[in-house]
Amino acid sequence: MSWTKVCTIDEVPQGSIKRMWARVNAGVPLLIVHHSSGFTALPPICPHLEEPLEESGTIIGCKLTCTKHLWSWDLDTMELQDEAELPLKTYETKVDGDTLMVFVAEELEYNFDEEGDIDEDEFFSDEHEDDEW
Ligand code: FES
Repeated sequence: MSWTKVCTIDEVPQGSIKRMWARVNAGVPLLIVHHSSGFTALPPICPHLEEPLEESGTIIGCKLTCTKHLWSWDLDTMELQDEAELPLKTYETKVDGDTLMVFVAEELEYNFDEEGDIDEDEFFSDEHEDDEW
């Protein structure tokens, strides 16, 4: 796996977010964001609750915001902003002429099981015995 052509740079104008595919193996879904510092390629879902960022994401300057619960990230520094609690994963990008290249060594994914699992021991503990139904 290596650098792969994803699109031409005019397919993702500055200030826009597009879902693309890297032609690696069966295809790797990517979100391409063209912000004020350049291009960022990342998995196409929000690391919070799996919202498709091509629908819930907005980009202003370098700030990507998922409008679902207002998690934001600075795509220049990759700092977490506003309500964000988890970092974004990103692929390396470079522009070659009019082509956007992305380095895809493997598909990047978020682990949603860690945060989403209900702790059954806690849920069924005595703490809930007095709860009114
Ligand atoms: S799903 Fe994106 S911030 Fe909650």
